[in-house]
Amino acid sequence: MRTNTGQIIHLEDYRPTDFVLERVDLTFELDPRETKVEARLIFHRREGVDASAPLVLDGDELTMTGLLLDQEEIPAALYDVADDALTIRGLPETAPFEITVTTLLSPETNTKLMGLYRTNKVYCTQCEAEGFRRITYFPDRPDVLAVYTVNIIAEKATAPLLLSNGNYLGGADMGDGRHFAAWFDPHPKPSYLFALVAGDLGVVEDKFTTTSGREVALKIYVEHGKEPRAAYAMDALKRSMKWDEEVFSREYDLDIFMIVAVSDFNMGAMENKGLNVFNDKYVLADPETATDTDYANIEAIIAHEYFHNWTGNRITCRDWFQLCLKEGLTVYRDHEFSADMRSRAVKRIAEVRHLKSEQFPEDAGPLAHPVRPTQYREINNFYTTTVYEKGSEVTRMIATLLGRDLFKKGMDLYFDRHDGQAVTIEDFIACFEDASGRDLSQFSLWYHQAGTPLITASGFYDAKKQSYTLSLEQAVPATPGQSAKKSMHIPLRVGLLLEDGSEAKPAAVSGADVTGDVLHLTERKQTVVFAGIPSRPVPSFNRGFSAPINLHIEQSAKDRALIARHEVDLFARWQALNAMALDNLAKAAAQARNGQPIVCDEALIGGLLAAAGDEGLEPAFRAQVLSLPSEADIAREIGRDNDPDAIQSGRQAILSAVAASGKDIFTRLLGEMALSGPFRPDAASAGQRALRNAALSYLVYGEDQPAKAVSAFHSANNMTDLSQALTLLAHRFPDAAETLDALATFKKRFADNALVIDKWFAIQATIPGASTLERVKALMSDPHFNPSNPNRVRSLVGTFAFSNPTGFNRADGEGYRFLARQILDIDPRNPQLAARILTSMRSWRSLEQVRAKHAQEALKEVAGAANLSVDVSDIVDRMLS
Ligand code: PHE
Ligand code: ZN
Repeated sequence: MRTNTGQIIHLEDYRPTDFVLERVDLTFELDPRETKVEARLIFHRREGVDASAPLVLDGDELTMTGLLLDQEEIPAALYDVADDALTIRGLPETAPFEITVTTLLSPETNTKLMGLYRTNKVYCTQCEAEGFRRITYFPDRPDVLAVYTVNIIAEKATAPLLLSNGNYLGGADMGDGRHFAAWFDPHPKPSYLFALVAGDLGVVEDKFTTTSGREVALKIYVEHGKEPRAAYAMDALKRSMKWDEEVFSREYDLDIFMIVAVSDFNMGAMENKGLNVFNDKYVLADPETATDTDYANIEAIIAHEYFHNWTGNRITCRDWFQLCLKEGLTVYRDHEFSADMRSRAVKRIAEVRHLKSEQFPEDAGPLAHPVRPTQYREINNFYTTTVYEKGSEVTRMIATLLGRDLFKKGMDLYFDRHDGQAVTIEDFIACFEDASGRDLSQFSLWYHQAGTPLITASGFYDAKKQSYTLSLEQAVPATPGQSAKKSMHIPLRVGLLLEDGSEAKPAAVSGADVTGDVLHLTERKQTVVFAGIPSRPVPSFNRGFSAPINLHIEQSAKDRALIARHEVDLFARWQALNAMALDNLAKAAAQARNGQPIVCDEALIGGLLAAAGDEGLEPAFRAQVLSLPSEADIAREIGRDNDPDAIQSGRQAILSAVAASGKDIFTRLLGEMALSGPFRPDAASAGQRALRNAALSYLVYGEDQPAKAVSAFHSANNMTDLSQALTLLAHRFPDAAETLDALATFKKRFADNALVIDKWFAIQATIPGASTLERVKALMSDPHFNPSNPNRVRSLVGTFAFSNPTGFNRADGEGYRFLARQILDIDPRNPQLAARILTSMRSWRSLEQVRAKHAQEALKEVAGAANLSVDVSDIVDRMLS
């Protein structure tokens, strides 16, 4: 299977390798420009494979300087080296043999950040998905599991630290200014989990004792001087290890667990066996420089990577089509972890907001694909929110269908049955079927059919019969390559609320299987009758967001308000208010577009303010209620012919109306939610800050003077409050002298902290309005901007394209042209980064026609450029088709 040439890879073509890899022995002689890698690989021919079949190894941008078979040079006639493969013929029929490949690499000039590269003078590797082939010729696919020994040789002065996977074997001085270290990983692993780090770093150390008594050394490596900022990550790691033992009965399996923070990284973090490598953004935190969101992200990502040790590493993917086997499941696990560490309801709201704003648009646009795809051109482009977040939702639905105990039984069976293997989604599902005796074949369509199902519902109450009838219809929209869809098994949690807010207890339910409050929808049309309902009930659908669907139902503001006041499910309360807000915001956008006065529904104001002032509710929940749907959410609600300017003005008007009515409550909250004492990053304190900042934001939007925001800026004693105040100033008063002042103060204060300067870039990149494009262009010449560092590029260019609807979608199309040029500039250096940022245009077809035309032209400009990477051409081709 080749992927680098950009041809389409099909799931159905999967077959195991001809040769089994038994052992891997690697020796690295590190040098910035000329690193020598010697790989000794022991293979044997798989039984039944033709004796003439050659060994084909993957490669990518390699220089080979030696090739031996059992220590003897292989004659030129017996091998071919191409750009992407090394083919060796004439190999032993049955006996094991050793291939020794020597390659030369230049880590310093490796700007793709795949394979072995240098970041801040540190040598570091990134191998998922297909980076190992940039280190040596190798069967670089996840179903080839082997035991690795790694020897690292490097200059002692610049690389005192030499790390790889597994346990440390030993090391020595070489007497010539160099030293070496050896590592052995006893757990068979695929090459994508290989890692090496070498350099001069500081360390934070701790330890953890597992339930069965294994003592594990924990080490987090960061740049010298930044050690105190790794304390929270260490704490999160220990909590993750404990939680996985308690909830999933999973123990750690090596003597050491290491995390290294690096400043150049394409993704969030990587779960290499025993040696996780992290984007430093997801390790470093202190109150002065990290926001509550940063803390929550660090906790979640530390947990995510740690949890991969079982879901991903001990049990891995047979092929890359199965990516959701490890990612969807591991996201589900990290979601559950965060829910246990924080407030479950608030966590669920945040997850659903994220799912709807990122995954739903993907599923509704040209890049839609199944959770388990069946084809790809470039696997890097499938690390998507569909594979991760929808994959997690599908796992969550299995837990909902089976209930807690059977879900646990299925997971235990999975760990037991498949430990040490590379498996498929079918294997995963079979564990739950075997553990529960249920048939999950219809349910498994969730893995195979792309698109967000739409459920259309209507209810009818028959007072005479005291029965309530729900008519439900499901439809899965057509997506690229899938025009006709089958009916899905949708577990929909529904509650029926009576007038007084209590929940109706139906005497009987017919028309659908029901377990507890879960309705099992399995047919295209279903009529569900609830008997013994004393008065007209208000249905509360999709409690806890039990299924990732869109719901269409006519529901009055009054009914929604009832749900918002009385639902036992807090998520459903938020959902009701959010739906009410979305209705109103979509109407407001239409009114703005037609030049009509914008009307804010009194029921909405009432609902929001009632929740905001309700002391019985936790502050974090109240803050979520106050945070109105985003402009992107409104665009998605409207669906087509979108005018981002109208959406923005409509939203602004609603915000002002809420601000005006809520002035007293917001002023009161400012005082009530003030925190005293030292900063604490825990969920309750974060919730108070969130509610206080939400109130402040309404107050600032309700006035035309920056005074309140200025004073918040000056009195802030942590990054959450400081960056919120700066955001308010910049977004509400972009050109005020106070804002320029605050921006300058902020920059000066954090000039030596790139991660904080990223916030400074992002805040300015999201200032609404057409003129922000010029600002972004100017910021690109700021000395702190670095076009080859992914975090810098994402925070300025990425944030502008993804999160500034009015600025990016300028009616004259300049935003798109700017992005096209940036993509073409980034692509030769770092194709993955370029492709990722280009996906910001995935919803271009839902724009009004003038903008859509400009967007299409910009995409065509990208598509027509010479020497495009496979990454970018795959994305742009799909977006245009
Ligand atoms: N496997 C990593 C994660 O989720 C993501 C990743 C993919 C990182 C590819 C780097 C490269 O957790
Ligand atoms: Zn992951």
